Amino acid sequence: MAAQIMTVAQHKGGAGKTTLVAHLAVTWAEAGQRVAILDTDPQASLGTWHRQRQAALGRRAQPLAYGAATGWRVRSELDRLSRTSDVILVDTPPSAGPDARPSLRFSSAVLVPVQPSPLDLWATKPVLDEIRRERSRPLIVLTRVPARARLTNEVLAELARLHCPIALARLGNRTAYAATLAVGASVADWAMQDEPWCLDAAREIKILSDEVLDFAVGRVAEPYGAPAGRVLVGA
Ligand SMILES: Nc1ncnc2c1ncn2[C@@H]1O[C@H](COP(=O)(O)OP(=O)(O)OP(=O)(O)O)[C@@H](O)[C@H]1O
Ligand SMILES: [Mg+2]
Repeated sequence: MAAQIMTVAQHKGGAGKTTLVAHLAVTWAEAGQRVAILDTDPQASLGTWHRQRQAALGRRAQPLAYGAATGWRVRSELDRLSRTSDVILVDTPPSAGPDARPSLRFSSAVLVPVQPSPLDLWATKPVLDEIRRERSRPLIVLTRVPARARLTNEVLAELARLHCPIALARLGNRTAYAATLAVGASVADWAMQDEPWCLDAAREIKILSDEVLDFAVGRVAEPYGAPAGRVLVGA
């Protein structure tokens, strides 16, 4: 498959998977990539967001190809979307199992959102094991990071034991992510319309989107996670 496939996976419910997919997708589309999103979660939140997007923004929306599939149909949906896309972002359900596995296998990177809380931490090792069983490359993305850093640093110290790359870019705990999603938009859409309360969120998503693409295409040498440990290949 020619497209870069990236899956967002985390067994814990409410970890921020769908939020990450939607905002990254629009940001890459703004940057000129042909982006597809694939919903493999039977809850279909991503599909609902996409439908609202079409209704609310119509032609003003950055175009995103959309697919939904579970089980064995995931593979054929990926094939279909990859014919017309540069990047496919896959949302997964909050559980291990057959709905997530095919996209893990074909992904050049699997993003694992982790909120700085013990509950998220405990859920992370099983999902990393599942990703590695499918011979894919996980990248932890810290999300809903509060302004106060103490718990985040404790969680980071624990995550270091999992020997998994951690994105340097992090998403803060910002109402802009939820508020824009609720109306079928993204922080990038609203930042373009000069909504000042979305600017910080749009900026951090843009930085993350660049880092994730570098990781997916192998422009960043592993392991990294601590700034000093990050090496840009060819830089
Ligand atoms: N960075 C963030 N800042 C603030 N709120 C966030 C952030 N990320 C996610 N949320 C909120 O957290 C809640 C759960 O997010 P989301 O639905 O994306 O999680 P999920 O992992 O897809 O959930 P599920 O496992 O049920 O599919 C939502 O209300 C969302 O708006
Ligand atoms: Mg979800």
